[in-house]
Amino acid sequence: MLFATLPAHMGGRDFASSYASLVDLIAPSNTSVHVVDLGCGSGHLLQLLHEQGAHLRLTGVDFSIAEIAVARGSLPTDVRLLAEPAQSMSIPDQDVDCVLSHLALMVMHDLPQVFAEIHRILKPGGRLGAVIGRRMLLGEAHLAYREVIGRHAGSGLTALAAEETRSLDGWRMLLDPFFESVQFDDLDLPWRPTPSELCEALRYTYDIDRLPVASLPQIMAELDEAFAGLVDGEGRLTTGWGLRRIAARSRNASGAS
Ligand SMILES: C[S@@+](CC[C@H](N)C(=O)[O-])C[C@H]1O[C@@H](n2cnc3c(N)ncnc32)[C@H](O)[C@@H]1O
Repeated sequence: MLFATLPAHMGGRDFASSYASLVDLIAPSNTSVHVVDLGCGSGHLLQLLHEQGAHLRLTGVDFSIAEIAVARGSLPTDVRLLAEPAQSMSIPDQDVDCVLSHLALMVMHDLPQVFAEIHRILKPGGRLGAVIGRRMLLGEAHLAYREVIGRHAGSGLTALAAEETRSLDGWRMLLDPFFESVQFDDLDLPWRPTPSELCEALRYTYDIDRLPVASLPQIMAELDEAFAGLVDGEGRLTTGWGLRRIAARSRNASGAS
């Protein structure tokens, strides 16, 4: 799991990973704190949260039965897992102190409904923390990547994410009805891969995943060639992943429409 092992920098702050930047949002407490991981996937964030101590009551939500099964196989039994969509969760109203989400919000459909649902389950003033994408790659490799992918994807490439998720103003518009004290921070994960290591990692991104399988070998060869022109004396690229952390507080019920 690539992002689990890359240190993340946010302004002057360093985290062991982008997941750790979300754990950081949980304030120490002597009482039970209910935390939901939305789009939990195989459960890495829930594992880190579990290590924080028994005061955290943990629930993972993911609509993929396969991901939930993987998470169930590795997580302690006191972590509750729900195979259900973020747009309609079985969690009671105002039951949750904090909703966290790592690289999942931006792939969810009907985000207004997702945020309405997060607001419904959060206690008034409860916290939302999310890591989302900002730019695929850091440095010159980003332009090389866009150029190759753009050549193959045409205008269809951006169809996965809602239009609003492509700008800060869009995210603000989505969050504003339900959240206040919204803060956005750039989260950089520097990385020095070889061209082939980077190509291999990109294979698992949603952009590449949506391209026709038949054209993958050609795309990978073009990416490899483009990246090869950018390596340093050690044969490595100076790049990384460009993410963003959102932190916000749930508005009182009367504040949301
Ligand atoms: C890129 S993965 C991230 C997984 C995990 N948070 C991580 O970072 O390791 C996105 C996850 O969001 C889940 N997901 C996407 N849309 C969803 C929805 N509407 N409701 C619940 N889960 C969703 C997917 O099944 C997938 O597991």
